[in-house]
Formats: sequence, C-alpha cells, structure tokens
Amino acid sequence: MAGGRRREYLEAIGIDLWVPRTARTAPAPLAEAASVAPGEAAREESAADVSARWQALREEVLHCTRCPLHLTRTQGVFGVGPKRSDWLVIGEAPGAEEDRRGEPFVGAAGQLLDAMLRAIGLDRTRNVYIANVLKSRPPGNRDPKPEEVAACLPYLVRQIALLQPKIMLAVGRIAAQSLLGTDTPLGRLRGRVHYFGELNTPLVVTYHPAYLLRTPGEKRKAWEDLKFARNLYQQLTQGTVNGHRP
Ligand code: URA
Repeated sequence: MAGGRRREYLEAIGIDLWVPRTARTAPAPLAEAASVAPGEAAREESAADVSARWQALREEVLHCTRCPLHLTRTQGVFGVGPKRSDWLVIGEAPGAEEDRRGEPFVGAAGQLLDAMLRAIGLDRTRNVYIANVLKSRPPGNRDPKPEEVAACLPYLVRQIALLQPKIMLAVGRIAAQSLLGTDTPLGRLRGRVHYFGELNTPLVVTYHPAYLLRTPGEKRKAWEDLKFARNLYQQLTQGTVNGHRP
C-alpha cells in the first residue's frame, strides 16, 4: 500500500506517525513457524460441494435454536466477506447494530476494525472474511456464557473448515480464549503464532476494537499485532515459512 494511504488509515485508527518507533526484528514465533512441515492435506471437494455445504451451514445458523439467545436475537449473524479470502477475522458476538443488520462489525467497533484492516491492505468486500464466535447477540452486550460458546463454536469450526483461510486474526479476549481453549490473559497471547484446528491454521491475537475505542492508548500495540500478522502472512504466501504445523 502506498505510504500516503497507509498514513491516512493509521490516522483513522488513531496512530500518530510522528512518534518514533524502534525497528522490530523478526519475532521469535516466526522462527517456530519456519520449522513446521505440511499438515495433512484437506479432503478434496468440488467447489459445488463446498458451496452447497456453506449454504446449508448458513441456513442452519440463521435458524439455530441451540441456546436461549435465539429467543432474544433479531437474527443470526453468519459472517461477511468473500469465501475465497486468505484472511479470517474472528470477533466475539454481534452487538445491537449487527443484530439489526445481520452483518458482523457494522457498529462503532466495526468502523475501527475496518480502518485497522485497511491499514494492512484488507477489506471485507475484497479479501477478508469476518465472523464471530457467537452468531446471536447476547442481550445488553454482556459477555457470552461458556455454554453459549460451547453451543455456537462448532458453527465457526465448520466455517473455518470450508473457508480454509491461510491466516486467522482473533480480536479480543473472548475470541482468542474460545478458539485456543485457554484462560490465559489476552496480553500473554499476543505477539506469537498460535495454530488452530485440524489444519493447524496460523492464528494471531490482538485487542478488540471496542476495547481500543475505550482505551486508545493501546492502539499502538494493536498496530504492532497487525504488522506482525501481515509479516507472517507475507512469509506464508512467499513460502519462507510453512503455513501448517504438523
Ligand atoms: N463485536 C464483535 O465482537 N463482533 C461484532 O460483530 C460486533 C462487535
């Protein structure tokens, strides 16, 4: 991306470019990723099969009654973006605006997320798919309950199996901890590559944009995370590291 446009996007996120930044050396986790060998090849399926399974999954999610959230939601929120995206961004759960419009991250936090993604060349209309751990809005935007996550996570796992992203970015504690099956604090999950699921998809963790709106002083750390993810993606696609751990 041209320097001028990147500057605009960083300004939109709230990053001041004039603050001196120390050069980062390649993060240690990339070295870990460099030693990995290919995982088991995914089962070959025709594009039509995948498309039919995707549509069926979408219908299931939109009509889901697995947890009581279906009683209070306006609609299920499946996800948005091109299905062929290399990137998958995962948030927590729909908020009021997402519940109303049926699309993830369309409220204030969504605007910041879009600006963050644009700063690394991503756009939900072109090259990133966005979904949530929960497909139904928790009333009053409370944190998801563990039983709600347990009921809903299999949908996301099926989405991931069909999308087969090259890299995943979990935004916020709930998304990161739910995907990684840990209660390690978010701060300790940042700055390294994790691997998700049977395909060992590389997963990077950063702050939730709603948290960044409340705590703008942390935006600089989020920008470090985004650069870390972008570097990892570049290495994955240039073949200098292998995407999938054995
Ligand atoms: N926060 C999330 O985690 N997801 C959304 O879709 C909106 C806000």
